[in-house]
Amino acid sequence: MTIYNYTKKEDSVIQASMLSKSEISYLNTIGTAFGGGRILELGCWLGSSTRCFLDKLTNGELHTCDLFKWREPYMTNAYPGKCPYKEGDSFLDEWKRNVDWQQPNHYVHPAGIEMIDWCYGQIDVLFIDAHKTWHIAKASFPKFLPSMVPGSLIIDQDFGWLPFQYVYSYLTYWRLREYLKPTTKVGTTAVFEVQKVIPFEMVEYATNYRQTTAQEILCALHTFHVILR
Ligand SMILES: C[S@@+](CC[C@H](N)C(=O)[O-])C[C@H]1O[C@@H](n2cnc3c(N)ncnc32)[C@H](O)[C@@H]1O
Repeated sequence: MTIYNYTKKEDSVIQASMLSKSEISYLNTIGTAFGGGRILELGCWLGSSTRCFLDKLTNGELHTCDLFKWREPYMTNAYPGKCPYKEGDSFLDEWKRNVDWQQPNHYVHPAGIEMIDWCYGQIDVLFIDAHKTWHIAKASFPKFLPSMVPGSLIIDQDFGWLPFQYVYSYLTYWRLREYLKPTTKVGTTAVFEVQKVIPFEMVEYATNYRQTTAQEILCALHTFHVILR
């Protein structure tokens, strides 16, 4: 028996998003420009960012990584209408309903970033929306940054989110300033273009948050405060 599915993906509406309209529109342009490349999405929640990339894929690849576990209160606050989830519930099924996740060139990593072994080759776009603590950033940056090629983009959605709390990422970008050029800012998202391959040792140094000075932190904050204005 053949069961036809008449639900058209184009008709489904995602109302839940933690992105602004301008960020969604920017990510759509990136999806189009890099549809033939390899995009890594860290933090998809209910699929708003996923769709920006997935719907535009041509012969490229999208890797999506998320814990898919409900966290209070920020997810509940962003959920439109009555929220059916409580702390710790899986929202993977809702994400699957929202995106065309079974495309053959879409790899889903339902795990903490800390658990991912990156063995898929060069990264053309690294979309970051899950570096909420310095522990995650420290585990994540060294895994992925050395696979980025000149001309590739780091799109950091967390950038303008609580700047003082996010200082570990400013420190990372500041220490890697020889390799990264800030190019765009949309909403709280900052975009850096990779200028040359970043050696693993450099990323290790850049994420050694225990060793820093007040002066270095002030330099990083000052530099990125200027970008954020
Ligand atoms: C701000 S939301 C992402 C919003 C999403 N990009 C959008 O378009 O609406 C942050 C996401 O990061 C995920 N996350 C947080 N810590 C994580 C970790 N250690 N590993 C993987 N995902 C994580 C959360 O589950 C959540 O879905």
